[in-house]
Formats: sequence, C-alpha cells, structure tokens
Amino acid sequence: MKKKISLFIAIILILSSLVAGCGTKEEVNSEKNGSEVGGNSLEEIKKKGKLVLGTSADYPPFEFHTMVDGKDEIVGFDIEIAKYIADELGVELEIKDMEFDKLLGGLSTGMLDIVIAGMNPDPEREKEANFTDIYYEANLSVLVNKEDASQINKLEDLNGKSIGVQIGTTQEKFAKTEIKDADVKSLSTNPDIAMNLKTKKIDCAIMEAPVAESFASSNDNLMVVEGVNIDSGSEGVAIALKKGNDELTVKLNEILAEAKDKGLMDKWFIEADKHSN
Ligand code: ARG
Repeated sequence: MKKKISLFIAIILILSSLVAGCGTKEEVNSEKNGSEVGGNSLEEIKKKGKLVLGTSADYPPFEFHTMVDGKDEIVGFDIEIAKYIADELGVELEIKDMEFDKLLGGLSTGMLDIVIAGMNPDPEREKEANFTDIYYEANLSVLVNKEDASQINKLEDLNGKSIGVQIGTTQEKFAKTEIKDADVKSLSTNPDIAMNLKTKKIDCAIMEAPVAESFASSNDNLMVVEGVNIDSGSEGVAIALKKGNDELTVKLNEILAEAKDKGLMDKWFIEADKHSN
C-alpha cells in the first residue's frame, strides 16, 4: 500500500513539473513578442504575413481618398510605394489612416510597421524613429483664395496674415518660426485647410508644392501664388520606421533604390498627380 501511494505521489510530481514546464515556455514566447522591435522586424513581418502601413490620407498626390467602383479607397504615390514594398516582402498590405501627428507614436508602440506620409526626416523626428533614404523632394508653395490673390505676391506678404497649416508638420514649424507676426492656424487635415480658405476663415495656407497644386486644381476658387517658391529647408521625404529597426531600414533602402532604377518612382508620382487633380 505504502509503495502504491509513493508511486502515485511520484507520478503527480512528474505530471505537475511537466505542466509547469509548459507554462514557462509560453511566458518566454510572449516575452519575445514584446521585445525590442517586437512584431516589426523583417522576420516578424514575414511571419505575420502583413505589413502595417500608417499614413494620413489627406495629402494628394501622396495619399488621398478616392472612389473606386463606388467604394472609398486610399490611393496615391506613397500607397504605390507601400504596395511595392509589401509585394517585395511577399506579404499583404494593411493601411491605417491616422492623424499625421499620431503616426510616429504608432511606430514606437509597435502598432505600425512603417509610416509613409510625405514625411520629412527632421532632427527632432530622427530622435524618435529610423528613416530610410529620401524618395522625393519638393519645395513649399502658398495657396490662396482667388479673390485674395492680389494681396499675396511674395513671401513677405505673408507677414501678419492668418496662415493655415497641418498640425505637427514642418509647414507648421516654418510658419511659426519664419513668418513675422503670423497668426498660425493649425488644422488637423489638409482638406480642412482648403475648406477654411474657401470660406475665407484664413488668408492663405502653406503646403508642399504638389499638394498645393492638387488642391488648386480640384477647387475652382483656390490658386497657388506664382513666384512664391519656398525652400522647405529639408532634403525631402522618407519612410519612417521604429527606432532601432535597422535591418528593415536597410531592406527598404534596397527596395526604394530598385524601384527608382526601374523608373517606377517617377511613373507612380505622375500617375498619382494626374489622378489627384
Ligand atoms: N512634409 C510635411 C512633414 O513632414 C507634411 C507631411 C504631411 N503628410 C500628410 N500625409 N498629411 O511634416
């Protein structure tokens, strides 16, 4: 009898240690998922089978909403780049449309794998995120209501005016630091800025040149001020990734260079630009 009991106890001990062993293994796994570039490394993206893109689809021709076969879709130059990257990595593309100033936060929490949003890698942002090589360069333009066009002919004419810019952008910084006595109106999207111009709630807006052109050609009462071509002071726009995600940064640079060599970058930009007008 005693023997039987001790055998029984021994079996129980063995079984419980097995169960405990499984538990530790699982914990190790979940810790691994939450590590450093958790879920966003090249390997993890391939494993989950999708690339999560963060963008702010209010920025034609870079990214904007349009109706395709009666359905609302996000299209544009940046979206073509993202689709190509997803194809090259052999994964699906998932697009998250967010407010521009929330995008870098989405990278650091791991919610987003990459951000393509016509974003300039300025020094502040480089502290927070990795950036690829520049894939497009543009200057800034001034957008006005046609009825107010005579009042703005040169950059100095912006002094003291109310200027619409998107929150958290380099244009906002430019308007605040470079224009004297500017009454800077920071708005959450670019269509909001266009609407405020149409209804004359603001005197003018500062936008990246192709974006300003796009709003001018899709709104009869808006126009781009000729002869005001502002050097944005930045080298251009790049893809943002989670800080420290160096392997994926290198991979994306290779993919960007390849797309450029094949003439795809120019083709995508021209097509998106035509479509957004
Ligand atoms: N190039 C500017 C910046 O980096 C504005 C980008 C705005 N992008 C957008 N998708 N709304 O701050």
